Amino acid sequence: MKIVGISTSAREKGNTSRLVRRVLERLAALGAQTEFVWAGGKTLEYCTACEYCMTHGACIKKDDYQPILKSVLEADGLVLGSPNYAFQMSAIMKTIYERSHCLLYYTRQLAGKYALGIAVGGHRFETGKIAKTIAQGVWLCGGYYSGYLGAVSVRRDDLRLVDEDKTFSRADKLAEKLFSDIKNSRPHRLQRLIRKIFLYPQVAGMVRNNKDKYPYLYNFYLDRKWLKG
Ligand SMILES: Cc1cc2nc3c(=O)[nH]c(=O)nc-3n(C[C@H](O)[C@H](O)[C@H](O)COP(=O)(O)O)c2cc1C
Repeated sequence: MKIVGISTSAREKGNTSRLVRRVLERLAALGAQTEFVWAGGKTLEYCTACEYCMTHGACIKKDDYQPILKSVLEADGLVLGSPNYAFQMSAIMKTIYERSHCLLYYTRQLAGKYALGIAVGGHRFETGKIAKTIAQGVWLCGGYYSGYLGAVSVRRDDLRLVDEDKTFSRADKLAEKLFSDIKNSRPHRLQRLIRKIFLYPQVAGMVRNNKDKYPYLYNFYLDRKWLKG
């Protein structure tokens, strides 16, 4: 079992990275092979909406997104962490999400993977919501989320979390849940149902209506019988 943890904080050794690493440590103790990626130090261009991925199935930009994507696609589980910046996920996380959106969302390429969302803020407001949004990004791309955790830093320049012991113990429990979900290939029936009712019919309709514009996607859907010819 391989788990990739990605910290999208501007601070390599800040509390977001500390919490992501804590989850990875617990997973490693359980027997998982883990990899930590600090995305803050990477060169990540913005998505330019060129739609190359929708016509070719790959991102045209050759920067540090490519090795991150490779790690993500090879992983069974993802631990995705962001600080709360301006009441939202970091621009680094958002860039990764935007670069992944058309590439992984339409093709459901995270199917079979499980994720945890982690967010760390200066206070609670919106922090838990950010953690959930991050986790749901994996669900949008065909995977499941096993849980999410919002935590609060004592101060910006302090490498401690409020109620750190309690937070770390919640992080450990989430790691155990992720491990168990992956090990048992747990079907999250509700997550699957919501996606099936609210997302997939609309997306399939878009692909059908744009079959001449996106033949790659259309054939992808036909091959998988997500659409009838
Ligand atoms: C640009 C910037 C914007 C921030 N905006 C918020 C915010 O809106 N809400 C919040 O709770 N904390 C905010 N913070 C505080 C950080 O979320 C907090 O310090 C967190 O620990 C940062 O993660 P790090 O320890 O990984 O660097 C902000 C920090 C920075 C640098």
